[in-house]
Amino acid sequence: MHSHADRGLDLYETPAPATRALLAEETFDGPIWEPADGRSAISRVLREAGYHVIATDLVDYGMPNALGGVDFLAQTFAPEGAKIIVSNPPFMYADEFVRHALTLVSRVIFLLRLAYVEGTGRADILDGGQLARVYVFRNRLPMLHRDGWTGPRTNSSMMPLAWFVWDRHHRGPTELRRISWEADCDEAPIPQLGCADPP
Ligand SMILES: C[S@@+](CC[C@H](N)C(=O)[O-])C[C@H]1O[C@@H](n2cnc3c(N)ncnc32)[C@H](O)[C@@H]1O
Repeated sequence: MHSHADRGLDLYETPAPATRALLAEETFDGPIWEPADGRSAISRVLREAGYHVIATDLVDYGMPNALGGVDFLAQTFAPEGAKIIVSNPPFMYADEFVRHALTLVSRVIFLLRLAYVEGTGRADILDGGQLARVYVFRNRLPMLHRDGWTGPRTNSSMMPLAWFVWDRHHRGPTELRRISWEADCDEAPIPQLGCADPP
């Protein structure tokens, strides 16, 4: 029996400002599928913004609006009407999640390490022409703590993260955009984001 971590089930919750920053850039038609929902950190923010979200996860975390026991990699079709996937997938299986997601829906948006752009084993995913946009945070996101972590809470993540957007209809180069998870309220208030602390 592999440990929980070895099976890639580690639950690292996405900080709400990361999803709000995505919402300031992307809009969605129809239901969104969050297939690795964890404790609904992403789907909660999407629902607050008025979107209909179908949330599933391999593990049943007892979330009221999510269905557990659903292995994403074993699904052969998306939930009815869902053409968009938004998630922070298990990092260990990120390649499998991207490849599989693109067989099920037309737009796939995953929060991944920025270093995901490196590597030679995923050229089909990165160089195939369907990676439409990468949103890089110009300010480092708050730390993603592992579920159940009782140690000190670190404010700033050690790891740069980015939203990667694949679009089955996209052909051509990938656009890189720098975004912030804090609004500069003096310059350009963005309703989805909170204001940065004054210096
Ligand atoms: C990094 S956590 C992210 C959770 C949530 N998306 C968030 O952003 O807070 C990854 C999640 O993937 C789930 N998971 C791992 N393997 C899976 C699979 N094959 N199918 C569905 N979910 C899976 C884990 O249970 C965990 O909840």
